[in-house]
Amino acid sequence: MGTTKWTQLWLDYHEVYKGEGSWKTVLTGFSDESPIVSNALLEFKRGMEKLTGEQVNGSDNSENALTLEITKNDAIPAEGYHISGSDKGIVVEASDERGVLYGVFAILRQIACGKRAIEVSESASPSNPLRMMNHWDNMDGSIERGYSGQSFFFENDEIIIDDRTRDYARFMGSIGINGVVINNVNVKSAASYLITDRYFDKVAKLSEIFNEYGVKLFLSLNFASPIEIGGLDSCDPLDKKVISWWENKVKEVYDRLPLLGGFLVKADSEGRPGPFTYGRTQADGANMLGDVLKPYGGIVIWRCFVYNCTQDWRDTKTDRARAGYDYFKPQDGAYNDNVVLQIKNGPMDFQIREPVSPLLGGLQHTNQMLEVQIAQEYTGHQIDLCYLIPLFKEVLDFHTHCASEKDTVADVVSGRTMGNKLAGMAAVINTGNDFNWTGNDLAAANTYGFGRLSFDTDLSSEEIAREWIRLTFNLPKEKEDILCNMLLHSREIYEKYSSPLGIGWMVTPNDHYGPSVDGYEYSRWGTYHRADHLGIGVDRTDKGTGYAQQYYKENAEMYNDPQKCPEELLLFFHHIPYTWKLKTGKSLIQHIYDSHFEGEEQARGLASDWDKLKDNIPEEQFDRVKHRFDLQLANAREWRDQVNSYFFRKSGIADEKGRTIY
Ligand code: GCU
Repeated sequence: MGTTKWTQLWLDYHEVYKGEGSWKTVLTGFSDESPIVSNALLEFKRGMEKLTGEQVNGSDNSENALTLEITKNDAIPAEGYHISGSDKGIVVEASDERGVLYGVFAILRQIACGKRAIEVSESASPSNPLRMMNHWDNMDGSIERGYSGQSFFFENDEIIIDDRTRDYARFMGSIGINGVVINNVNVKSAASYLITDRYFDKVAKLSEIFNEYGVKLFLSLNFASPIEIGGLDSCDPLDKKVISWWENKVKEVYDRLPLLGGFLVKADSEGRPGPFTYGRTQADGANMLGDVLKPYGGIVIWRCFVYNCTQDWRDTKTDRARAGYDYFKPQDGAYNDNVVLQIKNGPMDFQIREPVSPLLGGLQHTNQMLEVQIAQEYTGHQIDLCYLIPLFKEVLDFHTHCASEKDTVADVVSGRTMGNKLAGMAAVINTGNDFNWTGNDLAAANTYGFGRLSFDTDLSSEEIAREWIRLTFNLPKEKEDILCNMLLHSREIYEKYSSPLGIGWMVTPNDHYGPSVDGYEYSRWGTYHRADHLGIGVDRTDKGTGYAQQYYKENAEMYNDPQKCPEELLLFFHHIPYTWKLKTGKSLIQHIYDSHFEGEEQARGLASDWDKLKDNIPEEQFDRVKHRFDLQLANAREWRDQVNSYFFRKSGIADEKGRTIY
């Protein structure tokens, strides 16, 4: 532990040059009595003074002081900004307060990344209307799929509010996040009472702190609240008693929590209650809540992670990958306009490689948003380095073929394709109360990166990585290149030493760290690789489960044909013999061996690259990360050996290169 209680992540502001001027601030059309604007001014002072040593609104506020001029300009799109530097100072134009805040953070980012004040310049407005973080924090303080300590929102069924809460809100504001769900989607026990008097005061306080950084607070909701906290015997969304219970409840909620954005709901999934119990559709459930929230301007974010988790491995027709589309496509167009469906990036569950969910763009008349996971549940638990922005970029760039133009996932979830206002991106967040917030210091690149990407989906993975490195470490160029390269290759390295060619799931059950090739193979979760002595993979073609046919024609044809299917997804869509020749000329089995040996070797490369940064990173931080690399190497070896041994024994085909297979 250092002298502070927690790090300041990318907002620590390292000195980049020693300036000679000083600054004063002038507002036109905005008031510094607004908490958002006054936080923006505070940040400018804090950032500029540390980055350049130049005083802001200090004692030497002379005539010659440079000016930060914040001006209202209604021509700028909502939440957008225009910033421009000159020899007189910097002007920020925005039409609203969030725009002011984002503009000021953009100035500090540009200066931290090497620009002089005079060179500052950018016009930006968010790609996505909703840019959200989803916490899976439980009220006892634990975090579902948390890898960086305990919750900083909850402890022993109480809400925590301290300086950390403010820092957190500030971090979120700095990357353009405008909505946060504070509690786990699996709403149980005390969390069901977040919408009762027991917690209103503290939730209201949290929502105010968030609001001061432009962030709306949302709550995950227990669909069975009428039963669990209301004493009714049903939560049937079409039952009049249930509806009137919700009307009263939501009125009470908005009386006490006027700043609440709305609710996130996981229904009929993994044991959670939902409308299916009463023979109702997902739309019936979501619209009932939508109707009730409408008078208050609240929204319902309804998750599409609905599937049958009691499958039998002998059943080769039921396919978990199909479930989302099968359940949600039939009601396309039936959802209220204050309901938005939240869809995981892939049809399964945040594996290192999955195809894009066919629901994205498959729904053509329904608000939809993309859900990704920066908590590294299946991607190394924030022990292994896995920079996920390249994965998210692939998803966003995918052509769904849902329209003749504007058909990428980025188009669809931003609202550009359908012209809808309720749209965006959400990430299951990777933070906890660890000193460094994210367990692995380098995992903060994903926290930062998700925010920046959801604000501007045109940014490249490399641009985001470089910004984060400069803000966080401010390394000499050649060292920055090393770290940037490490980040950019980390996802493909993790993919190489874990499960091959899109098959996923060869993880230790429940925990999801480390290999267990058959761990889920005979279980009820519907996550099979179906390896036998001849081959591996799941036939999801028209002759198999038919999943490939859920895509529009162009993609359906591509995935249906093993010759056209992108090889990195080959085993997701096809059952392939070990002797099958890949485009490289290698057999499938040889590819499995080679990629696992290579992946492990490259993981060692990551660790030795980190060593090259020793002189440039504070010692404690360097050691913390180094320790993670030691663990990652052990994990990579374990993956390599278990996967290789398994397939050697199954196939009976030896490695051409005669390397050690146990
Ligand atoms: C995964 C994860 C669960 C989580 C679920 C969800 O299955 O393992 O912990 O609750 O996703 O997204 O709801």
